[in-house]
Amino acid sequence: MSRFWSPIVHTLTPYVPGEQPKLQKLVKLNTNENPYGPSPAVLAAMHEANNDALRLYPDPNADQLKDAIAVYHGLRREHVFVGNGSDEVLAHAFCALLKHDKPLLFPDISYSFYPVYCGLYQIDYRTVPLNDAFEIDVADYEGDAGAIIFPNPNAPTGRLLPLADIERLLQRQPDVVVVIDEAYIDFGGDSAIALIERYPNLLVVQTLSKSRSLAGLRVGFALGHPQLIEALERVKNSFNSYPLDRLAIVGASASFGDEAYFRATCDKVIASRERLSTALASLGFDVLPSAANFVFARHPQHDAGQLAAGLREHGVIVRHFKAARIDQHLRISIGTDAECDALLAALHTVLR
Ligand SMILES: Cc1ncc(COP(=O)(O)O)c(C=O)c1O
Repeated sequence: MSRFWSPIVHTLTPYVPGEQPKLQKLVKLNTNENPYGPSPAVLAAMHEANNDALRLYPDPNADQLKDAIAVYHGLRREHVFVGNGSDEVLAHAFCALLKHDKPLLFPDISYSFYPVYCGLYQIDYRTVPLNDAFEIDVADYEGDAGAIIFPNPNAPTGRLLPLADIERLLQRQPDVVVVIDEAYIDFGGDSAIALIERYPNLLVVQTLSKSRSLAGLRVGFALGHPQLIEALERVKNSFNSYPLDRLAIVGASASFGDEAYFRATCDKVIASRERLSTALASLGFDVLPSAANFVFARHPQHDAGQLAAGLREHGVIVRHFKAARIDQHLRISIGTDAECDALLAALHTVLR
């Protein structure tokens, strides 16, 4: 606390990211990174761009990347917004599109950055409880709302909502912005991007951090009607003209050109997820069906906090949220099969 702070700073409760340990040897299954490296085409493009041109500012509009994303998804550049990680894209969406007289709605169990943005931008919000199976029921979002946001698949549950449910919500709520945060959609769901041309109130946010193995590059994007994109651009250009650097623009663009690598690594993560889910179930865990690159599980006989601490002693880190309804769950990112095996071996000891 300091008397020099602007008043709002006293009220902020910042987001707490998962640990990025300094120790190299840990099996790191706590922040939903991809266990495989980025496409060789991405590394080659960045290597080539690592030259004297770095003295120049990058393209403030990152048109090369917008075009790569637009072509990939069968849209136009005007439908695309890019930012420094989807966290930044989401922050701009909260500021540009989600602050209205009526409250913003999002699930009670969801991405824990949402209430943080509400605090920063002073947005009135109401959380909507997931049902007992930790599912989103879109009927719960059909009442009075200023705007709506949720991840699909949801985080940290991993549960997927069918596209038909999202379309029903868009039909019932044509006058409010609906943001679908698809950070994990490439691991097993149908993207709402298919609905963008028909619903001008839909904004879909995605990231290159998970399925494209580029968490360290910080690139995310949003797709939606050009008027929604214009609102994001206005906020972005009132904040930072150059959120994506030259290396990020070329690396991210190259990622969309290597479909074979993208599909192969996603498929490997999906196969490991199914294998790990089965193995955890045989150890007595209740594992939620996941469409993401993590699983959310609880053990009826063991305290989740103690399990997380025990795993850490064995060199494996997973995420434990000390939050209502989920404090007995662990969120476990999908690693390589070898990393998942190391987790299972550690669990065998910790569960004894
Ligand atoms: C649901 C959800 N949305 C967005 C993000 C942000 O991803 P990034 O800022 O790396 O693009 C995350 C990160 O874990 C997430 O879980």
